[in-house]
Amino acid sequence: MFEPVKIAPSILSADFMNLGRDVALLEEAGAGFVHVDVMDGHFVPNLTMGVPVLKQLRRATSLPLDVHLMVENPLEQLPWFLDAGADIVTVHAEALDAEGLARAVSSIHEAGAKAAVSLKPATPPSALAPVLADLDMVLVMSVEPGFSGQSYIEGSEGKVARVVQMARELGAAPLVEVDGGIGTRTAPLVAAAGADVLVCGNAVCAAPDPARAIADILAAAEAARRGALEELVGKA
Ligand code: DX5
Ligand code: ZN
Repeated sequence: MFEPVKIAPSILSADFMNLGRDVALLEEAGAGFVHVDVMDGHFVPNLTMGVPVLKQLRRATSLPLDVHLMVENPLEQLPWFLDAGADIVTVHAEALDAEGLARAVSSIHEAGAKAAVSLKPATPPSALAPVLADLDMVLVMSVEPGFSGQSYIEGSEGKVARVVQMARELGAAPLVEVDGGIGTRTAPLVAAAGADVLVCGNAVCAAPDPARAIADILAAAEAARRGALEELVGKA
């Protein structure tokens, strides 16, 4: 929390026929991570990409691959994605009980990757409690997972702030990532609340000039964060 803001473009909105070209362009444009949305048609209604795509992405970029697993059985699928070269793996709190979450986090760490847990919009931050101290990142969904191009659920920044507060109380400092409907209007809201990593699908990959979009979103997020910190300093 309160690391320099990074943009994680979601390649779900990229041109699949030219994925290598798009990822190279995003890397050149200053993307921090490549966000890979894996959907199984069960945990969410949509079906997207899997291990073969991740393996090829691994060869195409040196950016960290941020794999968002929206699948019903993450414990079974985790090893495949870890072997394929994921750097950060996110499992959903709703897909596992407390023991399963702990097992997922330790198998991700044993493979040398970073572990994250995601919360759907209706899931309270308390669902993180069993593993929060061990997490490298928390992913707060600001839309219902399943599709890119949806509108940001207003007020999601309040949940970001609650996650930051909960982590601080524990003495933990995971990155906080936000996913869904993030662009120049909404990035400032979540950045001011403590988000470090902004997933952007349509706002970056479907923009006429993705490099420009990354720069604009980063600038808006950094300005909001500076404003929030200055306000706090003023009160100190
Ligand atoms: C939604 C995915 C998101 C999505 C973001 O379930 O997890 O990563 O691709 O797309 P935008 O930024 O267009 O909402
Ligand atoms: Zn995602």
